Amino acid sequence: MSFFVLGQGSNIIPHPHVNKFVCQLSLRGVEIVRETTDEVFVKVAAGESWHEFVMSAVCNKWYGLENLALIPGSVGAAPVQNIGAYGVEVASAIQHVEVLSLNSEIQNISVEACEFGYRDSIFKRNRNQIILAVQFRLQKKAKVVVEYPQLKQQLTGLSSVIPTPQQIAAAVIQIRQAKLPDPSRDANVGSLFKNPIVSHKAAALIMSKHKGLVQYPQHNGVKLSAAQLIDRAGWKNKGTNAIECWPTQPLVIVNKSATQATEIIAFADAMKADIYKRYEVELELEPYELF
Ligand code: EPU
Repeated sequence: MSFFVLGQGSNIIPHPHVNKFVCQLSLRGVEIVRETTDEVFVKVAAGESWHEFVMSAVCNKWYGLENLALIPGSVGAAPVQNIGAYGVEVASAIQHVEVLSLNSEIQNISVEACEFGYRDSIFKRNRNQIILAVQFRLQKKAKVVVEYPQLKQQLTGLSSVIPTPQQIAAAVIQIRQAKLPDPSRDANVGSLFKNPIVSHKAAALIMSKHKGLVQYPQHNGVKLSAAQLIDRAGWKNKGTNAIECWPTQPLVIVNKSATQATEIIAFADAMKADIYKRYEVELELEPYELF
């Protein structure tokens, strides 16, 4: 029987019958491994809460993770899908990931060997390793990423020229709270789909038919906004008695009373089919469907 390591369960769609051995790590601990004038290397156990660790990093005035405040989940889950928000992906602050392999060996996987990509890593594709800890490389000197339009806007009017990590984290928290449903109140798994990456040729064709779509050039094509495609297709506020498309971010759906994963998947399939019919763009589920 294969196994599945559960973080805090914030990014999975579990079916009633799971044919896997499911375990949850309760490893705790935050350790400063090394410090230089400019950098600090911090090893954090997989079972720590992601948001709590981010808040302790910003309180210490360490730069690197402030844009990723308020993302639900555990530290061990962060590298699996290379969590990202407001212009930063966790990969940019990772030095290595400590894993336990099936042959009981503990080894450090360097950031290069993690093969990080957009919501992707070696850990997502190959689940034969258990993440025990993540070692971060954080900055003591200001190194900020504040180009994301909403973040930039939120930070205007600050008296300091360069925002502190606390100020950036506070701005991110405000944006997220205004836009995204709180999973402790309105059950959701964050973005239901990844933003689709299409070839340059396909993007040009879509743009010629649908004016005004946002596009973000990538090394392997053009990233489109799933939220915008879904919004334009009229899904905002749409739903059933059990499931609702979130009004301020239609890429997120809220489970009001569905009791089976199949209801969520059927809703997601209807959205996917509609987006394909309109744009010939294939949406891919972002959370992990656990069987
Ligand atoms: N948009 C609309 N209509 C809407 C909402 C958004 O057209 O109702 C458009 C916006 O105008 C913007 C675009 O969609 O041009 C992107 O929206 P947003 O900035 O909210 O970001 P996103 O691409 O939809 C991604 C991540 C989020 C992350 C945000 C912020 C994915 C799948 N999602 O969303 O991550 O918080 O960027 O950086 O990449 C998550 O993964 O669960 C998650 C919430």
